[in-house]
Amino acid sequence: MIPVLFVTSELYPLVKTGGLADVSSSLPEALCGLGYDVQVLLPGYPDALAAARKAGSRRKAQFRIGQYEVSLWQTRVPGTAFTLWLVDCPLLFDRPGNPYQNEEGQDWWDNAHRFELFGRVGAMMAMGEAGLSWTPDLVHCNDWQTGLIPVFMAPVSRRPGIIFTIHNLAYHGVFPHQTFQDLGLPESLWRWDQLEFHGQLSFIKGGLVFSDRITTVSPGYAREIQTPEFGHGLDGLLRSRQEALTGILNGIDVRVWNPQEDPELTFHYRRNHLKNKARCKVSLQQELCLDVSDGPLLSFIGRLVEQKGVDWLISVMPELLERHCQFVLLGSGEARYEAPLKQLAQQWPGQMSLTLGYDEGLAHRITAGSDIFLMPSRFEPCGLNQMYSLRYGTVPVVHAVGGLSDTVHDPQDADTSVANGFRFSEANEQSLLAAINRALESYSNRQSWRRLQDNGMAADYSWQQRAQSYDDLYQAILKEREQHQLD
Ligand code: ADP
Ligand code: GLC
Repeated sequence: MIPVLFVTSELYPLVKTGGLADVSSSLPEALCGLGYDVQVLLPGYPDALAAARKAGSRRKAQFRIGQYEVSLWQTRVPGTAFTLWLVDCPLLFDRPGNPYQNEEGQDWWDNAHRFELFGRVGAMMAMGEAGLSWTPDLVHCNDWQTGLIPVFMAPVSRRPGIIFTIHNLAYHGVFPHQTFQDLGLPESLWRWDQLEFHGQLSFIKGGLVFSDRITTVSPGYAREIQTPEFGHGLDGLLRSRQEALTGILNGIDVRVWNPQEDPELTFHYRRNHLKNKARCKVSLQQELCLDVSDGPLLSFIGRLVEQKGVDWLISVMPELLERHCQFVLLGSGEARYEAPLKQLAQQWPGQMSLTLGYDEGLAHRITAGSDIFLMPSRFEPCGLNQMYSLRYGTVPVVHAVGGLSDTVHDPQDADTSVANGFRFSEANEQSLLAAINRALESYSNRQSWRRLQDNGMAADYSWQQRAQSYDDLYQAILKEREQHQLD
């Protein structure tokens, strides 16, 4: 079994702010299924450590890095095949709030130090220096929080292969030059083609420059990030590494997201037997104090940030509510979106429901109980919610970007045997509204709607095939490393 260290800052169900958490549990699980010995490394956040202690897990190594006492806990999330390691460093990770921010929604002042230490531990484990009897052949890093691992490993020639996955290029992990000095990183790394980014330190550049291979989470996004429009200033660097860059579409955990067995639902249903989906809709309307009606129920679940196009939703909603649509929104994020959303919900009781916060169970019930799921993201590396919706017979309306273009097919340009949702190309609210209008028209034609639902529910969104692409990539890196060591 090939040993792989998979390093991530989020892991479902222990700690989650977005899709990274979902992928960090479902991809390692799928890779274990393909015969890899995947071991996941996660910061020891309070909830994760509490779960490990409760499970009777053990501390396996203890060491000091600078001023910090660090220990490694070995544990396992019930029902998963991979080993989980937690980096216990109370001074840096034993805090309330989410992995990156305090309870007021501000970034922790010492995030650079927190994820530098996390990276050092990752690199130590990768190179067999953490006092464990296990050493990986491959290290799989994810997003900027792990960006320094390839940097720390670079000087060693007999190192494992390194793969870096971009889940969202909008987050670079950028800090002032002073932080670069405080971290004691070698001066030689302060170059525009290494860690320097417009006079600042960029963690993600470490991953992009020093890894053997770079992946991102859909083929569409892999193309987009090489353009100035979507490259967040890193398109040039990514173009220069295009030989090493691949887009592999994310899969979803089809056990967690399964309308036939979902424990969050009172009624279960499957393809060709959608009667209970209508019951899920009524339950949802009752739960959220909406009028129980047959009209179209539209929904949105996600982070309330610019990326997700929440402002476009806010602009088109009044007209749709006027036309007797219902709208359910579950989200948390930036305060600037909350006031206009609250105002809409107050103005349209019975038709609009707003839940500010994070609620996994409600997310499942909304996905099942809605007719149309809206994802007007300005950019979307992959997006998981559209795949959850498709699997639940809820028709998505999406902006044709990144992973949304790769998974949602519009009857306007796809064969009726594959069309499963609606897309718009122009990045503005009129285009969104036009696509919703086309969806509503189709909704009123039972036959065409059933066809869309059926195509969505019939497709395979599991990791089974998609993990195979990682397998191929892993094998290619291993071969290259072997060759390198022979040379
Ligand atoms: P991103 O990672 O950019 O936020 P994804 O579509 O990949 O977008 O994944 C988002 C994940 O987070 C999904 O599993 C979604 O259901 C979940 N999610 C986002 N916001 C909430 C919320 N407020 N309550 C429950 N789940 C949420
Ligand atoms: C990021 C992206 C999202 C993707 C997720 C998992 O948070 O914004 O599109 O689905 O990572 O890869």
